[in-house]
Amino acid sequence: VVARTPLIAGNWKMNFDHLQAIAFVQKLAWSLKDAQHNYADVEVAVFPPFTDLRSVQTLLAADKLPVALGAQDVSPEAAGAFTGDVSAAMLGKLDVRYVLVGHSERRAGHNESDDTVGLKARAAVAGGMVPVICVGETAEDLETHGAAAIPVAQLTAALAHLPADAEIVVAYEPVWAIGSGEPATPEQAEEVGKALREVLRTERGDAIADATRVLYGGSVASQNVASYLKQPNLDGALVGGASLKVDEFSRIVQFKK
Ligand code: G3P
Repeated sequence: VVARTPLIAGNWKMNFDHLQAIAFVQKLAWSLKDAQHNYADVEVAVFPPFTDLRSVQTLLAADKLPVALGAQDVSPEAAGAFTGDVSAAMLGKLDVRYVLVGHSERRAGHNESDDTVGLKARAAVAGGMVPVICVGETAEDLETHGAAAIPVAQLTAALAHLPADAEIVVAYEPVWAIGSGEPATPEQAEEVGKALREVLRTERGDAIADATRVLYGGSVASQNVASYLKQPNLDGALVGGASLKVDEFSRIVQFKK
């Protein structure tokens, strides 16, 4: 059995300006300090909007806080005439460690194809960061194909663009569970988590399959987080709405199996 350090990641989406971001991270750090949280046992990451990254980076460095910084997107291009986009090199300079790619809100709202998602993941890897590859089925997909088929296809497509030894994180987020207050059951999430790990095993071999963290996302809250982390193939949570409340996010980070 390989020990994978759980990752609790807060995807802020389009919330918090940079001053609110600083206040939030400070309060979170105090709360975890009071609780004597051991960051070696559970890794914590926040994914602020681009405009907040510099401020959060400065705070984390100044106070030596072991909270990892993530970005919500990255350009597949290295540099040049791409108005409005942000490159992996720019994110790397801000000590960004993780980059979300393929979040369903970008697949649906910005027409991102599996190829685009794979190219973004590749740009993140080339920039020295770890892509958090988001996959998940819609309610319609679930009815037509069952839970695992679409996430499996999405992960397979993304892996095709990545070097064989690239470190990645996989986030399974059923679209119907996002922001709905109707999370997948732990058993449903585990079933897909297991299928995704099988993809990693087939495409990348045992060492990478056993070391890669698979997160669950979709209406995660302090009351249900432990039930996912108990599953053998789930290694963390990608939290949306509940990551915007300091006390609630702090409780999620301190989940007990
Ligand atoms: O990326 C996390 C997100 O999509 C889940 O959102 O609000 O259901 O926790 P939420």
